[in-house]
Amino acid sequence: MIDFHNHVLPNVDDGPKTMDVTLDMLECAKQQGINIIVNTVHYKHPKMKGKNTNYDFINKIKDEVVNEFLSRGKKIKIYITSEVYFSSNLCSILNDPIATFNDFMLIEFHPTIKPPNYINTFFDLRMKGITPILAHPERYRFVQNNPYELESLKKIDVLFQIDAGSILGQFGLKTKKTAFKLLQNGFCDLIGSDSHNNRNRNFCIKRAYDLLSKSSAKIPKALNHNSSCIIDNSDDFINVDFKKQNFLNKLLKKIVNN
Ligand SMILES: [Fe+2]
Repeated sequence: MIDFHNHVLPNVDDGPKTMDVTLDMLECAKQQGINIIVNTVHYKHPKMKGKNTNYDFINKIKDEVVNEFLSRGKKIKIYITSEVYFSSNLCSILNDPIATFNDFMLIEFHPTIKPPNYINTFFDLRMKGITPILAHPERYRFVQNNPYELESLKKIDVLFQIDAGSILGQFGLKTKKTAFKLLQNGFCDLIGSDSHNNRNRNFCIKRAYDLLSKSSAKIPKALNHNSSCIIDNSDDFINVDFKKQNFLNKLLKKIVNN
């Protein structure tokens, strides 16, 4: 199982503050069958002012974590990239190795501000051979108000990553409802944990997959396959048609009526 979106490395962003918490989180990941983790340090985010996001610096911390976990007799594969805070000049950071993973870039928006001209910026990235992955669209107010706003991004093959916690209701009812609407309408290509700590924001991808597998075992399989495409730099993505999934429809109705 792959988790492409988390903040598990210690003291690099708003993730864990100590190595012990990191190792505890990795233990939780291992227990649910996650064997490949892509750490996505916040990058260009206002809250990162003064923090070091240099590739070699982050990579060194990643190596220390892997070795510490290994010294406890446990093995896990960790890659590094970043969660880029949206700005209109994303093409100008393409030469920074932390900004992309293979030919992909994970991008987040401000939760309540719809960025102007974001479609043009994403299109420019596509023209440079980069596939943008929009992080947790279900948590943005403009998407909650109208999920079909994502249609223009889907048309230029932008990928959508939903947070496992959103599916499980960790961000409230509105976000959960939006997550299921996005799943139903083909606006979900992969799921990530977006884990930050060993308490309320830990790895939880298996619980989300277990819930979705009540609809069809094919769903988690396809979502994990799509995560593996990013690792392998392949464009062999599966577009899952969730509309036919009775369980999802029933669950969405239940959430809406709540
Ligand atoms: Fe994140």
